[in-house]
Amino acid sequence: MTGRLEGKVAFITGTAGGQGAAAARLFAAEGAAVIGCDLLEEGARAVDAEIAAAGGRCRSWAPVNLADLDAAAAWVAAGVEEAGGIDILYNNASAPRVGPWDELTWDDWRFTLHNELDLIYTVTKAAWPHLVARGGGVIVNTASVSAHRGATFTEQAAHGAAKGGVLAMTRHLAASGAAHGIRANSISPGLIVTPQIAPFLEDPSHPMHGMREAHPLGRLGEPEDVAKVALFLASDDAAYLNAIDIIVDGGQAVIV
Ligand SMILES: NC(=O)c1ccc[n+]([C@@H]2O[C@H](COP(=O)([O-])OP(=O)(O)OC[C@H]3O[C@@H](n4cnc5c(N)ncnc54)[C@H](O)[C@@H]3O)[C@@H](O)[C@H]2O)c1
Repeated sequence: MTGRLEGKVAFITGTAGGQGAAAARLFAAEGAAVIGCDLLEEGARAVDAEIAAAGGRCRSWAPVNLADLDAAAAWVAAGVEEAGGIDILYNNASAPRVGPWDELTWDDWRFTLHNELDLIYTVTKAAWPHLVARGGGVIVNTASVSAHRGATFTEQAAHGAAKGGVLAMTRHLAASGAAHGIRANSISPGLIVTPQIAPFLEDPSHPMHGMREAHPLGRLGEPEDVAKVALFLASDDAAYLNAIDIIVDGGQAVIV
């Protein structure tokens, strides 16, 4: 590792598993003091312990429901007290409900918007004064290829709408942050293999079955593929990248 985040404090949401855990490991290995959180206590503790055993620094709060305004603010305040400020905010956590449009209920719609878009507001609103006080910083938001195109293998109108909101919000955060030295960019992952998805890929009756083999690169994304892009955006290597979205899908969206 090359210490690309040496001396930086990185707040990462959703550190109990998947892409958030991969980012926590990578950011800590690159020298950052990581402040994490998740709804899931056991996974968050395990990731913290694993990072500590590897010589890194990561402290996660759990359970924290970031869709709750006060809970998000309390996590940010506790993390700032622990680490002294915020240089990097990686808004990774979210939870959608997907399924056929015919069956998508108002409750599913509200749940998804609340747990994928509102929680970017709650966390960023609380973190903003600390980024400003630091004299600048970086926000990395997590959108999705769902924000860019429809999908028939799993219909996901609410998820796509929420992530489209994340894309738009990122550009406006970049506009608001420019005068403060705050850059804001987003990542749009394609299908990334996390523990939740892996069983579907092996199940012949599931619409996701065979997607690995059908991918142009012959494999699906791994959480580390996304974490490496997040590291780049969070680092000074991306000092002149602002208000952009990077699609991390192995080219699937454009290769036919
Ligand atoms: N996996 C994919 O194929 C894929 C594709 C496109 C976009 N994404 C996006 O990538 C990000 C990470 O997803 P992942 O694949 O690692 O999923 P994941 O479910 O493995 O991880 C998300 C983590 O966020 C936590 N979380 C969810 N809601 C929360 C809340 N309200 N408060 C606190 N923690 C909460 C979960 O407990 C979980 O640990 C998400 O924003 C997701 O929408 C994933």
